Amino acid sequence: MTFPRTRLRRLRSTPALRRMVRETRLSADRLIRPLFVRSGRGVRRPIGSMPGQFQFSVDVLAEECAATAELGIPAVLLFGIPECKDATGSAAWADDGPVQEAVRAAKSRVPDLVVITDVCLCEYTDHGHCGLVVERPGGPVVDNDATLELLARMAVSHARAGADIVAPSDMMDGRVGAVREALDAAGLSATPIMAYAAKLASSYYGPFREAAESPPRFGDRKTYQMDPANGDEALREVAADIDEGADIVMVKPAIHCLDIIRRVKDRFGMPTAAYHVSGEYAMLKAAAVNGWIDERSCALEAATAVFRAGADLLITYYAMELARWLRAGD
Ligand code: PBG
Ligand code: ZN
Repeated sequence: MTFPRTRLRRLRSTPALRRMVRETRLSADRLIRPLFVRSGRGVRRPIGSMPGQFQFSVDVLAEECAATAELGIPAVLLFGIPECKDATGSAAWADDGPVQEAVRAAKSRVPDLVVITDVCLCEYTDHGHCGLVVERPGGPVVDNDATLELLARMAVSHARAGADIVAPSDMMDGRVGAVREALDAAGLSATPIMAYAAKLASSYYGPFREAAESPPRFGDRKTYQMDPANGDEALREVAADIDEGADIVMVKPAIHCLDIIRRVKDRFGMPTAAYHVSGEYAMLKAAAVNGWIDERSCALEAATAVFRAGADLLITYYAMELARWLRAGD
């Protein structure tokens, strides 16, 4: 490979040549659109920290699901904002909760759309933690094992409502196994689990916590979400979830975990999802409204990077825009 015989620029000289040798191609088929659902009718409440994103009531959400499928996006990921929160997050497994109702509405409006539900207690607990909080001599802690049963109840409630896939995002040890066992016992052995397997304790989830009204009231999530400094441990987290029955493994935040995505895909060869999270989205939006970057090409480049790293699926608040841009031939 020596110059002047080798000239890497030759295959870059026209758009058609570049198109022919392009290694990574974006497709709406691989996108998942996150959506927030709350109670009420006709609600379309803008989320301040995430321009272009809204909290929808169930009726509006069903229409959004139809528009999503219309653009060729195969799946949505639902997050619920309940009317009341309590210490155990009991609204999470209420059969008439916003997520359960939204699943029914979405599946009846667009039967072919894959409806995935986020399984975690933080939107439902008054303290905002992802698990059950118990008092200990040194202060309150999140009780891992006591949380498992609650998550399992929530997952079964979602699957009974018709969810196609459940996605535990809490990061308790053993939750994938607990959810799998409960689904199987409820006759739902065909419902897949997409596990938030390597979920780092990232500050880039900030805008989401406004969207889902779920910031922790005390402390932080570092006792259960992973230290962002650790890559080897991310592989152990993924291995544990696969052992417990995960069907799809997820890595997040996507742009800050490109190395982990690559290692997970190479090591396990599993269907691998990556979550382009709220703060990563908000940064692009903020720079775009200021005219500092070209939003379209930057968002397309970000998505391309995640797929180049090895992801099969991308969960992104840009799903609708990406699908429109791809349709327009970008
Ligand atoms: C709930 C959950 C969070 C995200 C997905 N599920 C927030 C958190 O763990 O604090 C983050 C998504 C985003 O930032 O877009 N556990
Ligand atoms: Zn949570």
